[in-house]
Formats: sequence, C-alpha cells, structure tokens
Amino acid sequence: MNKKTKTTSFGSVVRQSHNSEKFYNSKLFSDFKISENIEFIESEIDEDKLDKIYCKSSENMDEIPDNSIHLMITSPPYNVGKEYDEDLTLDEYLKLLQRVFKSCHEKLVTGGRACINIANIGRKPYIILV
Ligand SMILES: C[S@@+](CC[C@H](N)C(=O)[O-])C[C@H]1O[C@@H](n2cnc3c(N)ncnc32)[C@H](O)[C@@H]1O
Repeated sequence: MNKKTKTTSFGSVVRQSHNSEKFYNSKLFSDFKISENIEFIESEIDEDKLDKIYCKSSENMDEIPDNSIHLMITSPPYNVGKEYDEDLTLDEYLKLLQRVFKSCHEKLVTGGRACINIANIGRKPYIILV
C-alpha cells in the first residue's frame, strides 16, 4: 500500500506509519536484496521440551527444533571481567557471539525476532573495540 505521509526531514516527534519508499530507496539499502518469495518455516516443539530451563551454553540448543522460536531475548556476556565472564580476547569473544547467534538464528522461525540487550558498562575512558 502506498501511504501518503512521510517522515520529517529532521527528527521524529511521534511513531507513525509513513510511506517508507524514500528511506528504502536510499544508498543505505543499495546492496540489500529483498527476496520476493520467502517460505515461512515453523516447526513444532515437543511438549516435554517446553517450560524448562536448560543450564548450558546457547552455542548448542539441540533440544529445540530449528525454526521453532518466534522471539529470542538475551543479555549476552559482555566480557568485561564480571563473575561469569571468561576474560576472552576480542577474537575469542566475537567468535563466541557468532556461534551463539548462529545457533539462535537457526532456532528462529522465518522472520522471528531477536532482542539483544547491549551493555552500557560506564567505563571512562570508553574505548570502542570494533
Ligand atoms: C550480562 S549477563 C545477563 C544476566 C541476566 N540478565 C540475569 O539477570 O541473570 C550474561 C549471562 O550470560 C551467561 N552466559 C555466558 N556464556 C553463555 C553461553 N555460552 N550460553 C548461555 N549463557 C551464557 C552468563 O552466565 C550470564 O549469566
């Protein structure tokens, strides 16, 4: 549907439902390919696998079928020296996150959502790693 309104050229005052054509035609999306015919895949989870806490690494979630989860929410370890952190190098840390998020992606249904809480660790000076 081609909506008539569009976003303001500076800032945004309220959440609205505008025609987003200009935004998606911008250079930001020039290399972005949108597939036309995406098949929605959703697998069922056995009842006995539900309502349980699995105390293990999310790198491997074999108990849960692929394409079965609609929403994943996480606050991943930030590798900043907390009790549960392992003092990983940047490369090791990024590889851990890649393994975990690959695994999460496999478990999500087509178009499933991932909510990721990113740390604000309040360090001074704040040195960005990547
Ligand atoms: C930033 S904390 C989040 C704490 C959580 N919001 C809570 O209230 O308990 C990161 C958590 O991820 C857990 N964790 C670390 N590596 C993990 C992994 N490979 N798979 C799953 N959880 C992991 C840690 O034990 C820690 O509890």
